[in-house]
Amino acid sequence: MKRIIPRVITVLMLSSTVAWAHPGQAAYDKMCKSCHGVDGAGNEAKAKMLKLDPAKLNLGRPEGASLTKDDLKKIILEGKDKMPSYAKKLTAAEVDPVVDLTAELAKAIREKK
Ligand code: HEC
Repeated sequence: MKRIIPRVITVLMLSSTVAWAHPGQAAYDKMCKSCHGVDGAGNEAKAKMLKLDPAKLNLGRPEGASLTKDDLKKIILEGKDKMPSYAKKLTAAEVDPVVDLTAELAKAIREKK
């Protein structure tokens, strides 16, 4: 019994990681995290490198509160100022999950304040 419990816990932890990973997470980690950070609040070091106001990399910034999912999708696909265009980098299957994840991260940041 003593040896089984840690194994059961490990299995539960592994399966929950898989089950809870957001469908847009892999693409976000690969293409967006370097600028927008793990939680979407922005990567300050990257902002400095790009000579940007770090607030611009925060997906939950107040200016974005009125953006609909269609607006987010347009920005992600077409780019905006120093935000690169991802129309050619995201696969068709990745676009909507990444838009959803972006909206969720932004919402979580706004709800924290
Ligand atoms: C090279 C850095 C960089 C990368 C990589 C990047 N972005 Fe951005 N992103 C920006 C900048 C800079 C802005 C602010 C643009 C502006 O001036 O309005 C921005 C803005 C946005 C906005 C609009 C937020 C708002 O409130 O106006 C969304 C949504 C967004 N990015 C999503 C993404 C997603 C999704 C990815 C990955 C597919 C991504 N970004 C990758 C730099 C980046």
